[in-house]
Amino acid sequence: MRALVTGASSGIGRAIATRLAADGHDLIVTARREERLLALKQELDADVEIVPADLSREEECFALFDRVKDQPFDILINNAGLGVFGAFQKTDLTRELGMLRVNITAMHILMKLCLEKFAGQDRGYILNVASSAAFLPGPLFSGYYASKAYVLRLSQAVREELRREKSNVYIGAFCPGPIATEFGQAADVKKGFTGVPLSCAADYAVRMMYKRKAVIIPGATMKLARVLDKILPDGVLARAAYNLQKTKFGGSV
Ligand SMILES: NC(=O)c1ccc[n+]([C@@H]2O[C@H](COP(=O)([O-])OP(=O)(O)OC[C@H]3O[C@@H](n4cnc5c(N)ncnc54)[C@H](OP(=O)(O)O)[C@@H]3O)[C@@H](O)[C@H]2O)c1
Repeated sequence: MRALVTGASSGIGRAIATRLAADGHDLIVTARREERLLALKQELDADVEIVPADLSREEECFALFDRVKDQPFDILINNAGLGVFGAFQKTDLTRELGMLRVNITAMHILMKLCLEKFAGQDRGYILNVASSAAFLPGPLFSGYYASKAYVLRLSQAVREELRREKSNVYIGAFCPGPIATEFGQAADVKKGFTGVPLSCAADYAVRMMYKRKAVIIPGATMKLARVLDKILPDGVLARAAYNLQKTKFGGSV
């Protein structure tokens, strides 16, 4: 099998790409930082094709798919993403729109184009990387949380369409809690949290994808948090999320 992994230059995307290569998959990897992708290719014992792309640009999403569409690949790890941290009235609109273009628009375009290809061959896996942020309102990280709710709900909705069609194509959402990557730095988080180790999270994501799980949540703490998300009113969750996010400022909000 061959997998297309977005955001493979760092963090979760890199770890999932490494895990898939260890399983014997060949890879198509993409991100903006080509030198990071080259370093990954040198590290892995797999056939790795590098396609640098800035996924905040719609035309580069289409160009990426055009370049790989005729190749026999059947896994999409739709992972590239970023956050913009801060109070909604103070965050920079240009950065936020860039985030929404990667987290929502690029994710949507690649999911749709790959689904069309996979549906035609009646097999394939699409794993969209959402977040535990998808489950609740996220004051002080509002646009990011909302973007991840989009990823989760889109995945769940299309999964149901495929189920009714008796399609063999898998769609799932990976919803980890905090993991130590470059994410916090890119999002301007001053003080981050870490939960499940990166390689364990990536390993779990891939194993559960093969088991065709709809929503994949690594770690007992985040599984428990998911239960609370379902029980508690949104207002209570919003207040708790505010208090949690506030501690990440390392100063006044
Ligand atoms: N770390 C966490 O705590 C956590 C928790 C839940 C969910 N997630 C999600 O996991 C995914 C990966 O994040 P991470 O934690 O691994 O963060 P990361 O280490 O910062 O990696 C982000 C990846 O996305 C790529 N990317 C960002 N902007 C891009 C753009 N404009 N065009 C193409 N690629 C772009 C980056 O590549 P380049 O910079 O080289 O382009 C990088 O490979 C994201 O969707 C994030 O929302 C993270």
